[in-house]
Amino acid sequence: MRGAMPVLAICVVLMGFGATASAYWQFPPLPAPAEYGNILINRLSEKNGQKAVTFSHWSHRIRHTCKVCHLELGFEMRLNATEITEEMNQQGRFCGAGGCHDGKVAFGHARKDQCNKCHNGNIADGVEKFKELDSFPKTTFGNQIDWVRAFKEKSIKPKQTLTTLPPVPIAYDKSLSLEAGWVFVPPAIFPHDAHNQWLDCSNCHPDIFNVKVKTTEHFAMQYILEGKFCGVCHLKVAFPINDCGRCHPGIKN
Ligand code: HEC
Ligand code: HEC
Ligand code: HEC
Ligand code: HEC
Ligand code: HEC
Repeated sequence: MRGAMPVLAICVVLMGFGATASAYWQFPPLPAPAEYGNILINRLSEKNGQKAVTFSHWSHRIRHTCKVCHLELGFEMRLNATEITEEMNQQGRFCGAGGCHDGKVAFGHARKDQCNKCHNGNIADGVEKFKELDSFPKTTFGNQIDWVRAFKEKSIKPKQTLTTLPPVPIAYDKSLSLEAGWVFVPPAIFPHDAHNQWLDCSNCHPDIFNVKVKTTEHFAMQYILEGKFCGVCHLKVAFPINDCGRCHPGIKN
């Protein structure tokens, strides 16, 4: 019988956590599933007489992994941080890269009647096509699509690179247990394999995380919610922070 009380107490604390957390921490608002990960890029557009550029992550990640854009093409993982100009697009950089909006594979940058396919200022552009993803494995938050399973089960086969060289993947699939700083809080898990499907080591190391478990400083939920660490991706594009149980298997949502 000894020990039963503490165990019960811990369970009560954890089951309450999901609900209490939303009162305790500030979560960014959750858009509709078809708009999660949609952005309007407007560093220069409106200043130069064009509407902001609409961009949807779900419609691009079904064909390309994150690293194609966020490593090869040099897009920052921060809105309006990349110095894109229309001239560069037309010269085959950024959106205009070969195999992308080059006028052959996808609509390009030359035709005046097609500028507004990108420059339309509409964050909900293309949401009607989201229903084509109905058969994908489901989750509860964000796009409500389990992208890890969609990849593993080959519902999608996003490209790993735009170059003709075959990709040389570094096989690293260690799953880490990240103990939280608080007693009673079950550790967060970090599976390298699910991330390396989409990302390059250099998307995370060494800028976001040290290459040694539990050595990254100030690694706590408060900072994650400010867009640091896991929050670089898990607030806006990868499944959002509201999905406690997916990172902390011991916490019920
Ligand atoms: C495939 C998407 C896409 C298409 C098509 C496109 N653009 Fe852009 N354009 C962008 C992006 C992304 C930016 C950077 C947006 C920003 O920073 O505000 C941009 C920036 C611009 C800018 C502001 C920066 C600069 O270089 O002056 C102008 C003006 C512009 N585009 C004009 C056009 C015109 C005109 C067309 C059609 C002939 C066109 N764009 C077609 C994606 C596109
Ligand atoms: C087809 C290209 C492309 C793909 C694929 C892509 N992104 Fe992006 N992403 C962009 C562009 C373009 C921006 C805007 C950059 C800017 O404005 O400077 C962006 C912005 C972001 C942002 C900032 C969003 C915000 O609202 O502040 C995050 C986070 C991000 N991407 C993560 C990811 C992750 C994670 C993946 C893979 C699951 C991914 N991206 C796949 C092109 C892409
Ligand atoms: C999405 C982000 C992300 C990507 C991509 C990523 N890692 Fe990591 N990695 C982490 C995190 C988080 C830690 C733990 C850091 C901490 O606890 O301070 C870590 C830790 C490590 C460690 C230390 C493990 C230990 O037991 O001490 C190694 C080694 C490592 N990563 C190698 C790699 C390699 C190789 C790749 C590419 C094949 C890679 N990582 C890709 C996030 C990432
Ligand atoms: C650079 C972007 C990035 C960073 C940083 C990042 N993730 Fe992820 N993570 C992803 C993407 C992309 C997926 C695929 C699922 C999705 O997009 O919803 C993913 C999936 C996961 C999964 C789901 C695995 C599965 O099998 O279903 C877990 C758990 C996870 N991340 C935890 C973490 C934790 C914990 C951290 C911080 C230590 C972290 N991630 C940091 C991009 C990132
Ligand atoms: C994307 C992954 C991820 C999600 C989703 C997530 N957490 Fe965390 N959480 C972490 C990581 C990683 C740590 C541990 C950092 C460390 O100390 O190494 C952590 C730490 C914590 C801590 C310890 C205190 C602190 O500030 O570090 C608490 C409490 C916590 N999480 C609760 C929650 C709750 C409640 C939710 C859902 C609302 C949630 N977490 C969602 C990754 C996540």
